[in-house]
Amino acid sequence: MSFRVNGNEEKYLLEVLSSDFRSSSGSRMTKKLEAKFAEVFDSNFAISFSNGTATMHAALEAAGVGPGDEVIVPPLTMSSTTFAVLQANATPIFADVDRATFQISAESIKSNITPRTKAVITVSLYGLAPNLVEIRKICDENGLFLLEDNAECYLSEIDGRKVGTFGDAASYSFQSSKHLTSGEGGMIICDDENLADKIRRIQSLGYAGVSASAPKISKNDIQHPDYSRHVSMGWNYRLGELPAAVALAQLERIDELVSARVEAAKEYNNAVEGFEHILTPQFTPPSHTNSYWTWTGALNLETVTWEDFRRKFLELGGSPFYAAWKLTYLEPMFTERTLLGREKFISNDNLGRYSRGLCPNAEWLQKRICQFKTNLWSPSERQGQAEALRATLEFFNSEK
Ligand SMILES: Cc1ncc(COP(=O)(O)O)c(C=O)c1O
Repeated sequence: MSFRVNGNEEKYLLEVLSSDFRSSSGSRMTKKLEAKFAEVFDSNFAISFSNGTATMHAALEAAGVGPGDEVIVPPLTMSSTTFAVLQANATPIFADVDRATFQISAESIKSNITPRTKAVITVSLYGLAPNLVEIRKICDENGLFLLEDNAECYLSEIDGRKVGTFGDAASYSFQSSKHLTSGEGGMIICDDENLADKIRRIQSLGYAGVSASAPKISKNDIQHPDYSRHVSMGWNYRLGELPAAVALAQLERIDELVSARVEAAKEYNNAVEGFEHILTPQFTPPSHTNSYWTWTGALNLETVTWEDFRRKFLELGGSPFYAAWKLTYLEPMFTERTLLGREKFISNDNLGRYSRGLCPNAEWLQKRICQFKTNLWSPSERQGQAEALRATLEFFNSEK
């Protein structure tokens, strides 16, 4: 087994398999996983999901977000953040990001608030949170629901407080590239029981008998002919018991899974020292810790092109690195209006805004970003990648 999957994964999977999927034991693993997740992430409730997109859709529905409502999101992120808004039939409003931290900026959120704004989704991009202290304040002053998308951010802190506890709810993803994985999966945490009950019901087909702490309907209830099951509409967004077993084993080791990535980031930080004029690392403010889903820098394109830099890095022994996703509002689904009918919920004014020039900082950064792997589990792998980066920087520095 690799470092990444060397805990109780197999043991817990066998426990589920040996239960024969009897419905009486059908939520044993999810219950354990949810209880432990709530404890580790300092929250009252944790509700498991099939993925970290469904989480956000359900949270918005539970917060009452719907047609005509605007939800402020960053454009420099994986598009699921925006998908959740569209899935709730609401309007995504894109706020610009900060050039140093790459995160959605509090000022831009503020300037995008209108009487229709109902919620803000922040993304803790690449493992670092935005200025959640300021953003929480803005949301409180304007009566907005704050959802943290922490798919890429596990155990980071701001002034010693866990990221995930600033929002009214926070979302996590267990997709295969994330700090904690079960292949696919996700989790929502929150403190408010009423909100947690609603989220559970939306996750579980609107069933009457489920609640924040009860993921399943009781057999006595469900067997009766007069039982009314669906007190609201909902989706089936439940996490299966098999991925829950894997996620539980991973959660038991979350400290070391995060630490390995932070160690890799230290190596990259050392490698880039003195060459920040070529590749400027994402700035981690002194009040924040960064859990480094990836180690990320912005290339100075006047010095070297993205393609040339990547080619040289690979030549010198580096593993392929990623660029940032295209900005969400420049994806064909927006530019070609292929929003599966959601266009009808968005005003023409807002539809007209989804084009180049909307978020200048994000557009400036997107072309420059290089995302280096931190899922390097041994010291030698980490040092090897950092040495390749150092050699690449030295090469382009001497080229000038
Ligand atoms: C920032 C961000 N939000 C949301 C998601 C969506 O999570 P999932 O793939 O579990 O739906 C991801 C990654 O996959 C992500 O990186």
